[in-house]
Amino acid sequence: MESSKTHFGFKQVDRDAKVGLVKEIFSNVAPKYDLMNDLMSAGIHRIWKKKMVEEVGCGRVIDVAGGTGDIAFRIARKFPEARIDVVDINPEMLAVGKARAVDQNIFSNLTFTCADGEQLPFPDKTFDFFTIAFGIRNFTNIGQALLEAHRVLKPGGKFICLEFSKVNDLLLQKIYDIYSFKLIPKIGAVVLNDRESYQYLVESIRKFPPQDEFKKMIEKAGFKNASYQNLTFGTAAIHVGTK
Ligand SMILES: C[S@@+](CC[C@H](N)C(=O)[O-])C[C@H]1O[C@@H](n2cnc3c(N)ncnc32)[C@H](O)[C@@H]1O
Repeated sequence: MESSKTHFGFKQVDRDAKVGLVKEIFSNVAPKYDLMNDLMSAGIHRIWKKKMVEEVGCGRVIDVAGGTGDIAFRIARKFPEARIDVVDINPEMLAVGKARAVDQNIFSNLTFTCADGEQLPFPDKTFDFFTIAFGIRNFTNIGQALLEAHRVLKPGGKFICLEFSKVNDLLLQKIYDIYSFKLIPKIGAVVLNDRESYQYLVESIRKFPPQDEFKKMIEKAGFKNASYQNLTFGTAAIHVGTK
């Protein structure tokens, strides 16, 4: 039987409570989310996202946990004719995304939907590409989110996930741990007056399954040809699979 508890960062919480706690985190960080990404990663997240979008082709795309639209905008610029659905559980993150889409004049082929990635409001076999960046580790039931990804993809459709991962060098891991646990929550405190949200962020990264384990979960959801590439010594990884 599935436990009634799950992790929320390093804390144990009721499964039913997690979704609300995650929503609160992203409501808090939404106004400065994009600035914080640049500050925390020294802009490296842009290189990772560019690499991720290299995996996407033209067609009908769903970007789940799409937040403020970073991935969708990159796809829209690469394929102006692609139709892209941005889905996120948090209305504040989507509101920032919509405003950015208007600013950047790239909204004609984008649709924003507020929904849970574990229960997508789309029929089976709708999309050619499913993207999710830095989102899936926040889900309560990652296996269920992967099954949903599989369900909404057309046969032959491609799943592409960018997520923080396990650093593959012991010394680098130590340095990264110091940076993550000592510095990132401080940056959150200074920029957003919110240490807790960024403490959760670094803890949630450590709780996410390492590359090979996550690859097995992708296969278990029914994807074929699952593989991954490490980015920046495994700080992040891009996982792909086909339906
Ligand atoms: C770290 S942000 C990533 C945003 C964007 N993909 C990016 O790379 O900049 C994580 C996003 O996941 C969303 N999220 C968390 N749980 C979710 C769920 N169950 N369903 C859909 N979105 C979710 C949050 O609201 C947040 O916008």
